[in-house]
Formats: sequence, C-alpha cells, structure tokens
Amino acid sequence: MDITLESPLDMHLHLREGDMLDLTVPLSADHFAGAVIMPNLVVPVDSLDYLLNYRQAIEFYCTGKNFRPYMTLFFKNYSRQELEESREQILGIKLYPAGITTQSEAGVSDFSAIEETLSLMQELKIPLLVHGETNGFVLDRESEFLDVYRSLANRFSELHIIMEHITTADAVELLDEFANLSATVTLHHLMITLDDVLGDLLRPDLFCKPVAKTPRDRSALREAVFGGHPQIMFGSDSAPHPRHKKECIGCAAGVFSAPVALPLLAQIFEDAGCLDRLQDFISTNACRRYRITPSEKTVVLSPTAWQVPDYYGDVSPFFAGQTIRWSVNSTISAK
Ligand code: NCD
Ligand code: ZN
Ligand code: ZN
Repeated sequence: MDITLESPLDMHLHLREGDMLDLTVPLSADHFAGAVIMPNLVVPVDSLDYLLNYRQAIEFYCTGKNFRPYMTLFFKNYSRQELEESREQILGIKLYPAGITTQSEAGVSDFSAIEETLSLMQELKIPLLVHGETNGFVLDRESEFLDVYRSLANRFSELHIIMEHITTADAVELLDEFANLSATVTLHHLMITLDDVLGDLLRPDLFCKPVAKTPRDRSALREAVFGGHPQIMFGSDSAPHPRHKKECIGCAAGVFSAPVALPLLAQIFEDAGCLDRLQDFISTNACRRYRITPSEKTVVLSPTAWQVPDYYGDVSPFFAGQTIRWSVNSTISAK
C-alpha cells in the first residue's frame, strides 16, 4: 500500500546560497510543496531587496517543480515602512540570539531593545520564528530560554511565535500555556538522543544545534508528534555543510536531512502505528497555524527500500549508508 501526502511542507529549511543551491533546492522541491527558507546566509538576509534576489536564485533551481519558497527575513529592528513593504513577501521573521548557532553573529544581544519591532510585527500579523537557546550549559540552553518565550508570548499575545526545532519535554509542555505559541520538530530529534551523537564514536553528521537531548526528551517529542499535537509542525532544519566543515576539528552544527525526510518520516510514523497522523504533521497543522494555502501537490510514497548514499555532492546526509523502507515514487501537481 502506498502513502499519499497532500502538499507536504518543510517549515524550517536551510538551502544556503551560490552553487550549493544546485544541490539543495531540487532535493527539497522534488519532495515538498513548499518550505520555509532560513535567512542565515553568510551575509544575513535582512532587507527586502536582498530577500527578493535570494528567492529568485532559489526559484531558478526549482522551475516547473511547483515548489514554493516561503521566505523569512533575519531579525533586526525594522521600521514600520520596511515591515509594511515586506509583509506580503515573507512568511515571518527569524530571530537568532547573537552567536548562538551557525551564522547568527548579527543576531539579538539585547532582548529589551526589540520591543518596537515586535509590536509592529504583532500589528502587521508577521509571525516571529525563534532559535530559542541561551548561551548557558549546552544541555540546558533550550530549557533556560523558555522564560524568554513565556515573556514574549505573554506580552505579545497576538503575535504568532514559533519555537523552532524544539528538543525538550519542557518545550512541549510550554505549548499548553499559550495559544499563540507553535513549534517545529525535526526528523532527527524524533530519532536520536545525545547518545547517538557522542555515546560511541563521535558523529559529526549528527551534531546540530540544539543538540539532541535525553531519551526522556525524545519520548516527549515523539508522544506529542505521534499523538497529533495541533501546535506542532514538521521543520527538518536540514542544514548542509560541506565535508571539510564537518569532518574536521571544529565541526559545524547541522544535520542534512532533506533528501531522507519524507521517506524516514513515513517509516517512523509507520513503526509508531500512526501513519494516519502524518498528514497533519507534514502539512495541515502548518497551514492552519500560519494561515497559508500551499499549491496542490500530491506526493506518493511506495514501500520500495533504498540505501541512502554516503554523500550528496560534498555533503553527508542523515542516515547515510542505511536502508529506508519507503521511497518517494511520484508527485502530481494540480493543473
Ligand atoms: C543551522 C545551520 O547550519 O544553519 N545549524 C543547526 O545546527 N541547526 C542553524 C540553526 O538552525 O540553528
Ligand atoms: Zn536554529
Ligand atoms: Zn535551522
């Protein structure tokens, strides 16, 4: 029996720039109807002109694939005029605490100095996407940041705030406190714990921010996702880095999961006996939370096993060398 998914969406994706787009864009566009494109390029995407150029570069590599890049601006203090001009072109604005992850040096260092932009975003109904970590002890960073989410969600109760790539039981629980909070969950955080990253041989391919946490945290994520939590959406956080940046001293953070995301999600949802919940996680929840209507694209997965290659171009993917029971068989776009 095949699995049919309607307009699957990846609500957190790093496509990078330049030549890398040739690799990354088709891999996502072949499987998804759209994706939320992260703005942490070498020079952050922090103006409308730059964003439109970046979108055009992406579109060049997905012509005819019925794939929509939902663009995001890199958070800084924007004027009303800038926000009004941008709002039709963006899905939201992505906030990085300064220096907390790959290419986030230009992020926010003083959370008391951003109130005006947040008020404007609330008024103009522009969602706020957040990489929520402090610079504390690595395993506590997400939990420590929850107070920031609490304070933002309280003070800006009409602002849609998305806790990106949550990894902890605490973050899952916070969703119950605020209707204006959503979250994305990655594939890899549903599958691995810190043990997989460094419990045996050190695995640079599994090193990412936030780092995978404890078995208890993973269970909480799985319970929420497989249980159909309505505030949680799929966001792969697929974050490719070339081999020389991963297989070295000073390994960059990021798991490249885009080419395996849909087939592996099918596999883990099947193993959990909840394939009927996959459509909500992969599309319906995101459409409802963000009030978007992606174009119609039906993706059919078949139970044909395949072995994940060791590399796509110069990048080692999640699950490299292992076998996945499901493959993407075909995609059908509405005329
Ligand atoms: C991301 C990247 O490489 O851009 N890395 C990661 O480990 N997730 C940045 C991010 O999403 O934090
Ligand atoms: Zn992040
Ligand atoms: Zn990311």
